Amino acid sequence: MRRVQPNELTLKPFAVLDREWALLVAGRERPNPMTVSWGGLGTLWNRPVVTVYVRPTRFTFSLLEAHPEFTLNVLGERYRKALDLCGTRSGRDTDKWRETGLGQLPGETVAVPRVAEAELAIECRVLATLDLDPKRFLDPAVAKLYPCEDYHRVFLGEVLAAWADGRFLARPA
Ligand SMILES: Cc1cc2nc3c(=O)[nH]c(=O)nc-3n(C[C@H](O)[C@H](O)[C@H](O)COP(=O)(O)O)c2cc1C
Repeated sequence: MRRVQPNELTLKPFAVLDREWALLVAGRERPNPMTVSWGGLGTLWNRPVVTVYVRPTRFTFSLLEAHPEFTLNVLGERYRKALDLCGTRSGRDTDKWRETGLGQLPGETVAVPRVAEAELAIECRVLATLDLDPKRFLDPAVAKLYPCEDYHRVFLGEVLAAWADGRFLARPA
């Protein structure tokens, strides 16, 4: 694992979140990992940006609102069970670190940890948030994804540091 520039990463943008999923860690005093599969990595305002979509019903939502930093962590396939747990249980009533056995490493540029087992970890500070507005949905199928009307808030996070290993690097560490 070494610190890398975001533009050094080799990854499949339409598979890395959708297929592999990732752990979004938020919260300064009591950090909490939540599984995400919707989001993106790209460029905005001339900066490398990670975009994540978080429903207001998530504990993670309140953590991001209280402290606008996060890490996005991609783990190997052998951590699928841990990802399942972090995507079905809430940090409100579960210590997901203890339940999964996953470890924390301190962030270097943010006050939120990254996941020790991650093969790719990205530290971000939130630059802006946007709320999805159902009045602007053009495809009715999209509205059906919100039976409880808990529309996602979009968190636009500037990449402050990235850490990667093996398959995410053209020149492995
Ligand atoms: C594969 C998978 C992907 C998920 N992606 C998202 C997502 O992108 N955004 C979101 O708000 N919730 C997503 N969830 C749901 C949350 O991970 C889940 O509700 C979690 O228990 C919330 O944890 P928290 O209350 O500790 O924040 C996903 C769940 C799974 C299993």
